[in-house]
Amino acid sequence: MGAPVKDAAYLDPATRKGLAEAWGLSPHAAFTPLGHGLINRTLLVTDGAHRRVLQRLNTHVFRDPALVMRNCRVVTAHLGRERAAGRYHYSVLELVPTRGGQPAAVLAGDSWWRMYDQVPDARTHDVASTPALALEAGRGFGAFARALASLDPAQVGAVIPHFHDPSARFEAFRTALAADRAGRAAAAARECDAALGFAEVLTGWKALLDARLPWRITHNDCKLNNLLFDASQRAICVVDLDTVMPGSLLFDFGDMARSMLSPAPEDATDLDAIAVRPEYFAALAQGYSDGCGTLLTPLERDHLAFAARLITGVVGLRFLTDHLDGDRYFRVTHAGQNLERARNQFTLLAALTAQAESLQARVPGPA
Ligand SMILES: Nc1ncnc2c1ncn2[C@@H]1O[C@H](COP(=O)(O)OP(=O)(O)O)[C@@H](O)[C@H]1O
Ligand SMILES: [Mg+2]
Repeated sequence: MGAPVKDAAYLDPATRKGLAEAWGLSPHAAFTPLGHGLINRTLLVTDGAHRRVLQRLNTHVFRDPALVMRNCRVVTAHLGRERAAGRYHYSVLELVPTRGGQPAAVLAGDSWWRMYDQVPDARTHDVASTPALALEAGRGFGAFARALASLDPAQVGAVIPHFHDPSARFEAFRTALAADRAGRAAAAARECDAALGFAEVLTGWKALLDARLPWRITHNDCKLNNLLFDASQRAICVVDLDTVMPGSLLFDFGDMARSMLSPAPEDATDLDAIAVRPEYFAALAQGYSDGCGTLLTPLERDHLAFAARLITGVVGLRFLTDHLDGDRYFRVTHAGQNLERARNQFTLLAALTAQAESLQARVPGPA
């Protein structure tokens, strides 16, 4: 007889017991996998009338899980107050504390688990299939940033320092290229040339910092599937708060643009399929402008097309750096996949650069 197959919801008996004790679950609690997140492990727990979302934090990515949980608590409490005051019109994630009143349960010394109420009747979209979805996403993440503008920035810590920092990512790439630890630089010469061309974008970025680009509390992982939608494709709740930390609105808008403007996903290898859909950019910019309202300064508004180039370049640099380092961060299913992903991102960056002016012209003025 073979060993029993472990399904995606499998929990070893000790973990199950630890979770049941921490949250007072009944012996009938059922666990099923939820969503397509890439970072944490997410399970739906059904126990009597309760439906809750249980997540194991990825402590390789989040080295300070206590800080992540503190941020989540501060952010959800603040959003809850904004909602109660009628200034935020989306649902807010509700943390379910353990029976001991803690925001997370730490099992076997190092496995961090936390629980949220499930937002009922919600669904996620992995790709933007219509401009209307991009508009809703822009509105939802924009309103989120606006609601957090009234939170004291000192309350939220940097969970991954320099996560989107373009200068730090460029330096890391140059270091990896010089070290060439996996002996892959020669065969990646074309992509490395494209990456070195990022220096021009970096000059623009440094000029923005000199011009005192505002530093705010931002989401930092504005993927479409980090927004819950209802059945009529209305955004209802921002999720995945683990990367909320100080940053620029350009990081959030840029990442949305990077992931929604092209019909091809970031690991597509058919470069001809990679394109910038201007109507998606226009919808996203309109939504973000609506959602952010008066928060968006002229400097930020004038650089939304630039933001798309900035973050697409940063992500391209990260894939290429990881390829040169021997695939230590991004999981690959075949040799060379991180090089393919880098090529994809630099192709998108070239398309964004070619259209930069016409895209920026589609950004609406202040309301
Ligand atoms: N409170 C919730 N209610 C309903 N669905 C949720 C909730 N939290 C997360 N999900 C679903 O689980 C998926 C993964 O959760 P997420 O927090 O984004 O984890 P990851 O960091 O792994 O991306 C989400 O994309 C969403 O589909
Ligand atoms: Mg997620």
